Order: sequence, then C-alpha cells, then structure tokens
Amino acid sequence: MKCLECGYETELNQKIITCPKCGGIMEIKVKLKDFSFNNLKGRGVWRYKNSIPGIYNKLISLNEGNTPLIPSKIYKQTYYKFEGANPTGSFKDRGMTVAISSAVNSGYKVVTAASTGNTAASAAAYASRGNLKIYLVLPKGKVALGKLAQSILYGATILEVNGSFDIAMSAVIRLYKELGIVYPLNSFNPWRLEGQKTIAYEIAEEIGAPDNVIVPVGNAGNIYAIWKGFTELYEVGAIQKIPRMIGVQAEGASPIAKAVEKGLDTPEFFENPETIATAIRIGKPVNWRKAIKAIKESKGTALSVSDSEITEAQKKLAREEGIGAEPASSAALAGYEKAIKEQIVDKDEKNVLILTGHALKDPDAMLKMDSKIILINPDHIEKIVLGDTNANN
Ligand code: F0G
Repeated sequence: MKCLECGYETELNQKIITCPKCGGIMEIKVKLKDFSFNNLKGRGVWRYKNSIPGIYNKLISLNEGNTPLIPSKIYKQTYYKFEGANPTGSFKDRGMTVAISSAVNSGYKVVTAASTGNTAASAAAYASRGNLKIYLVLPKGKVALGKLAQSILYGATILEVNGSFDIAMSAVIRLYKELGIVYPLNSFNPWRLEGQKTIAYEIAEEIGAPDNVIVPVGNAGNIYAIWKGFTELYEVGAIQKIPRMIGVQAEGASPIAKAVEKGLDTPEFFENPETIATAIRIGKPVNWRKAIKAIKESKGTALSVSDSEITEAQKKLAREEGIGAEPASSAALAGYEKAIKEQIVDKDEKNVLILTGHALKDPDAMLKMDSKIILINPDHIEKIVLGDTNANN
C-alpha cells in the first residue's frame, strides 16, 4: 500500500484506510500471478476474488456485478456497461460488497458514508445484509428521490446537512478520524475501489481491452478503479493494451475536466457545484489524485458537458437505444459525442461507456421531459390512434 500524498509505503493491511502518517489517499498495489480468464468460477464481483486483496472469511454479497454489456445500435464497436442492473441500481454495489465484507471481517459494528445518493442506497442495503448500524450524511434537498427512498427503505439513519456533498464528505472524514469505531464507506476507502475495478475485468473478459472507456466522474474514484483493473490485467498479460480513460463531468461541477484542460497538476475546486446530474454534483473530489493519475497514465482526458447535453443524452439513450440511465450516467454519452466531435476518440474504435446508475433513481428528471401523455375518452381510442384529433372533444 502506498500513500499518494506523502509516498509512505507499507505491507498490505486491511485495517488501513487512509495514510497512517499524513491521512492521505492510499493506493493498493496488486500484482497478479498466473491469471487466466479460463480458471475463474462463479459470476459477478467475487468471480475475480483472487485479484481482490484482503481476507474475507464471511462475504456480505447480493450477487452484484455481472452486468450487461449492451452493444450500441447507433455507434458501431461501441458498448454500454449497464451498471444500473446491480442489486441497488448502481455500480456502488461492487465496491460495497468488498468494503462491507472487510468491515465485518475486521469487527466493525457501525459504518458511515457521505453521499449524493447512490453510495447511500448501496451502503444502506449492504449494511442491512451485514447487520451493521449505518449513518448516512446527505446534502439536504439534493439527493434524487429514488435514492433517498431506497436509503429510507433499507432503514439507515439519515443525517442531513445544509450544503453540498463536499460538506457532508468532510463531516464523514471527521467522524472516521475522531471516532475510530466507525468504518467509512466512501471511495477514499481504497478497499471499495478493489470491488469497482471488476467493471474492467468483466469488460476485458467479454470483449478484450477497448480503445477508450468513457466514465462519468464525481468524487473521482471509479475512473481510477476501472483503470486499475485494466492495468492489473495488462501487467499479467491477460490483455494487450490499457484503454484510454476519458472522464466526463458536468460543467457546473468540473474541477477534474478543467484541470486537464488547463494542464494543471492540482485541480481548482468548485465551491458551489451545480448540475442537474446530482450524483456528480461534487466540487472537491477526494480522489482527484487517483483520477488524474489514471487519465495521465492511460493517455486519456477529461471533458465537461452542459446540463442540456446531459438531458438530451439521457433521452437519446432511452428513446433510441432503449436504455434507462440516470442523468449522471447519461453524461457518459454526452461526453462521448463531444469527444467524437473534437476528434478525441474515433467512433470506429472500440469504445465502452459506463452507465453508472439506473434511470429509476431520479424520477423527477424523467418527469420533466417532453412526454406523450393524452387524456382520452376510451370510447374513441381507435379514432385517436388513427389520428382523428377531434375524437377527444
Ligand atoms: N455516476 C453515478 C450514478 C454516481 O452515483 C457517481 C457517484 C458517479 C457516477 C461518479 O463516481 O464518484 O467514483 O467519480 N456517486 C457518489 C455517491 C458520489 O455518493 O453516490 P465517482
């Protein structure tokens, strides 16, 4: 394990979450031996258990992962990894099975997470499964309805803050650092990313290494996790290249994209992040160092898209591809189309877009769209379908 801030290195230790020396973000280095896709058993995240470091005597799992890789109808050689098909409807379940199993195996009884909503829903479900008490810290009024409803359903205690996710996040970091008994489930916990890296393993197993992977970026853990998965496979010779990682942020919350654009090594944070894609409404991504590393080392990039581009992409995914993804996830398609226009990617390359969460997470976003709802007199239904506009009168 190595700290990305002060460089401190230590043997693998499942109890370590942040750097014991400086409190910085830790990286878990995994070197695979004798890896072959032919020797794997089972499905989903734990199919790759030999690549996931740590001791897991008891697994807390809902059979997460094994999500569909759907070929695009519009773009050839382009696929959607539909993470909305996970048990709580987002990719967070992959990380949560590893982090909660790790917490249980390490003897913790209480867990916590700050969240824009999906981490909350997932953490709440896995905490129930693992008999753990959970405190969620949420930005009041800024969590999409489906996600808040899930957190209520799973019985979590919800602590709301007046302010953004970034304020909720700093409260969780304080709680974790001051009360050693509370296990943090946010993605500054590197064990969570060990679960999320299986997105790369599944893609590689199904279609090999793509040329580009396009990922929506918020707190910036997932883009790194996916890059880490591909890198481990590349280093062991299971794939022949590492895809370029292309991060997509919403314009109003785009510190990583702006840093890449301006060639800065350290992002300028957004004090008041704003976007309809509430999942990625984040101004100070805790994993910015990891995201920038993944983007740089893979020769990728990051770009930002507007809220209207996100909404158009969400509709296009649903109305042309038949895929229901939430706004933050749809940012991947908006970013992909921008990257094609700017000749950052070639649409004839092999591209995978990570659709991180299900459309049902955010019913309000869908209800605001143009719709074809018509109140009819049922006696005249045939005439209405045949286009007789007077039949409704
Ligand atoms: N897409 C969705 C649907 C998300 O919920 C998130 C993050 C991301 C993308 C970005 O992933 O943070 O690893 O860069 N949601 C977190 C949460 C912040 O609290 O649910 P990231």
